Amino acid sequence: MPEKTSTISGFYRLSIEERVKKLRAFADLSDDDVALLSAFGALDAETADRMIENVVGSYAFPLGLATNFQINGQDYLIPMALEEPSVVAAASNAARMTRKTGGFKASSTDPVMIGQIQVTDIPDMKAAQDTVLEQKENLLKVANAQDPVLVKFGGGARDLQLRQLETMMGPMLILHLLVDARDAMGANAVNTMCEALAPLIEELTKGKVYLRILSNLAEYRRARAEALFSAKDLGGPHVVEGILKAYAFAQADPYRCATHNKGIMNGIDAVLLATGQDFRAVEAGAHTYAATQDGGYQSLTHYEKTPEGDLRATIELPMAVGLVGGATRTHPVARLCVKILGVKTATELAQIIVSVGLAQNVAALRALSQEGIQAGHMKLHARNVAIAAGAFEGEVDQVAQKMIAEKRVRFDAAQEILAEMRKKKV
Ligand code: MEV
Repeated sequence: MPEKTSTISGFYRLSIEERVKKLRAFADLSDDDVALLSAFGALDAETADRMIENVVGSYAFPLGLATNFQINGQDYLIPMALEEPSVVAAASNAARMTRKTGGFKASSTDPVMIGQIQVTDIPDMKAAQDTVLEQKENLLKVANAQDPVLVKFGGGARDLQLRQLETMMGPMLILHLLVDARDAMGANAVNTMCEALAPLIEELTKGKVYLRILSNLAEYRRARAEALFSAKDLGGPHVVEGILKAYAFAQADPYRCATHNKGIMNGIDAVLLATGQDFRAVEAGAHTYAATQDGGYQSLTHYEKTPEGDLRATIELPMAVGLVGGATRTHPVARLCVKILGVKTATELAQIIVSVGLAQNVAALRALSQEGIQAGHMKLHARNVAIAAGAFEGEVDQVAQKMIAEKRVRFDAAQEILAEMRKKKV
């Protein structure tokens, strides 16, 4: 038997079928496995093959709809793609509570992204900085010449800022090119501009440029949302107190805050994924933003009790999302999700996304500070365990309910209950 090798020359040049054939031999796949890969679903093979390299299939997630959202006076049904139970229900629940108090009020800054140019080995730092600043207008012109379409739509390079860094490899001058990306996420435009400026920057600084790349800490491109939750709708003053205590815990402790912010990202990532956004970029920006606040790593949401004893909740974070280019345009389901949302601008999408993050956090803190989240989780989990144990549609709920009642949501328990149920039927 020849030894297995993961080096397959020209793999990327093969057709999808040929790649699957190679994979089949490598991983000993069955006909059913191959059929699963070949199904592709809503994302057709040709589109998938154009999106990334070495495609052998596509990967589906459940797509749910969060209900009850009213943002800036407008109602939205919000598509969420994720694998975790309870998230869609939690967001919908929290959103329902805000309807009587006016829904979510959301806003955003201009969609300004930062591009970084790293200049090293500068013989005279002061002279280099002065020269770059003198040439600022010209450099912005050169940057804008790279993307006349963006400029036509009202975007483009806006400013150039300088930062001096002391690093383990010596002093560096870091240029920040601020670019209004309008309805694009902006990575392509910003990277192209930074690369175009690099030779000029080397000439002006007499230094050496290495990196020319967008920063995911998009601190100028933030979205914000707030909502009022009445103590009554939350379940009483003790729930407001519980949420405030949970918030205080997160603000004081990075171990808790990581999980607190993870819950926010449960909501945010699901909408990002559904609408074909670069969710890694937003994740990176969110956590770095949280880490660069006064007091170290902090919550992305904030809470206060109103004089009436209700809960005012706010969220603010960088939100680099786009409606032009990328998977938002190429992925048919992402396109459909944008249509479901009916959004016309990237800033509107950003405002929806942070509202979902806020709803998610309120729901999580409410559950965590009261009955805990397992009760809610268990319902769906028990159904999944029942299905895994072989329950058919008419049996699933009964098996799940019995496992919950007996407080043993386990595969072996499901099998036992199922066997008993079936015995009784015959
Ligand atoms: C689980 O995916 C998310 C939570 O852990 C968030 C939180 O603890 O705030 C419930």
